[in-house]
Amino acid sequence: MQEIQPSVEEDEGLCAETVAGPNALVVFGASGDLTHRKLLVSIFKLFSEDMLSENFYVLGCGRKPFSDADFRSKARQSIRENSDFVSSEALDAFAGKLYYLDGDYGDTEFYQRIKARLAELGQKHNVHESLVFYLAVPPALYAAIVNHLGSAGLSRPGGPDSQEKVKLVIEKPFGRDLRSAIELNHCISRCFSESQIYRIDHYLGKETVQNILMLRFANAIFEPVWNRNYIDNVQITIAETVGVEHRAGYYDTSGALRDMFQNHMLQMLTLVAMEPPISFEADRIRDEKVRLLRSIRPFDPSRLDDFWVRGQYGPGSIDGKKIKGYLDEASVSEDSRTETFVAARLFIDNWRWQSVPFYCRTGKRLAAKDTEIAITFKKVPYSLFSSAGLDNLPSNVLVLQIQPEEGISLSFQAKRPGSKLCMSTLNMRFSYRGVFFAEAPEAYRRLLLDCMLGDQTLFTRQDDVEVSWQLLTPILQAWEQDAQAPHIYPAGAESFPEANKLLEADGRAWRTLL
Ligand code: BG6
Repeated sequence: MQEIQPSVEEDEGLCAETVAGPNALVVFGASGDLTHRKLLVSIFKLFSEDMLSENFYVLGCGRKPFSDADFRSKARQSIRENSDFVSSEALDAFAGKLYYLDGDYGDTEFYQRIKARLAELGQKHNVHESLVFYLAVPPALYAAIVNHLGSAGLSRPGGPDSQEKVKLVIEKPFGRDLRSAIELNHCISRCFSESQIYRIDHYLGKETVQNILMLRFANAIFEPVWNRNYIDNVQITIAETVGVEHRAGYYDTSGALRDMFQNHMLQMLTLVAMEPPISFEADRIRDEKVRLLRSIRPFDPSRLDDFWVRGQYGPGSIDGKKIKGYLDEASVSEDSRTETFVAARLFIDNWRWQSVPFYCRTGKRLAAKDTEIAITFKKVPYSLFSSAGLDNLPSNVLVLQIQPEEGISLSFQAKRPGSKLCMSTLNMRFSYRGVFFAEAPEAYRRLLLDCMLGDQTLFTRQDDVEVSWQLLTPILQAWEQDAQAPHIYPAGAESFPEANKLLEADGRAWRTLL
């Protein structure tokens, strides 16, 4: 396929980012992996780009008995390991804003100490109201921490008027089914109102995911064809080569449907398929996402296999390296039926999408890392070129590539130099790195900044969480009751027969992984 490179016309004026005001960030789980690999690295990035106020500090809270100096030294090390370029001066200045307090998350006294330390640090750094509590801890601890924050008066310190200055950030999973998601929300909402809660789905912080709305609604050419009249099918793929790594204990109680589908997959689906919001305000966008989720056709449990396939990786190889099967991973029970792959054939019951299949798949230990949304348009109604044997002209495909490289491509047919009826498929391709000469920023950078700015657009609202669990809980229940185990696919596979059948039933096939 031939490639055509686009260029970009810059308009700096439209790109200005707002700098965050004074803020204190309190991270629970401060000695953990997420804090060091992602959060501190992204906060440091914002700090070195001057996107944070002078009046800013981080208070790390954790169970490990670290001193401020230990925390700073561990933070320096993680930032150096996980960032491209680090200026020692900036790192010194940043480290001076980091503090640590150890304690027991279940102990009331810990929260009194946090309160006292916040008062002291608030004076020192001139931060008096704006507080972000970030729960980088296992979900089982959310309820206890939130209750203690509430009882210590930390969730609404200045009374109702000041409440939006205090924010709570929680990471997925937001529950593990509909009932637990509702319970979690009841618990959190006793202390924090919805406008204070920032539920992170890091996929929403990825540039190309954010770009879906710009592409659709800042261009006049796409929206007229963005419907059942022109689109044949949509395929969303989140394929990973990694396995469960050190998280097998968590993953074995979760599985791909809970870990990737309920959140990342459905978020991408809603952005691609939702109706135009009436404005770019957070709640107007989130209203449309929820409306779209409500339009997904519920599944008939007796015909689940026509719409859903689950798999589990067995032994295999990736890039010539031998890979053990899921059941041989440490901390996975030997008869585990947890799915590491899930594929679905979804339909959206509304005027725009009636009868257009959305094929969605996600899996671990597949042949390639590839996250993309591919929109395949209908074929031309009649080929003028059949006399040259060109009867079955390929469809145009618009691909929003999210990983490993962020970009967009559009394929179309064009004449090649040479004989009169010589035709090729061209691919017009924009790669983020090729055009902007930079890697796309880390998703957490965007999300942390938006949270400090009080912009909830890229965060999941509770009704969204509940509607998605409402849709998926019957599937989880059916799989739990099903005596059949997931289909086994070899690690490193492109796909497997049962997953292929889902599309073959419609005369289609999965796209090849990158
Ligand atoms: C996380 C999942 O939310 O997303 C992981 O819990 C998964 O299992 C990860 O590997 C994938 O994120 P990314 O950004 O690497 O695609």
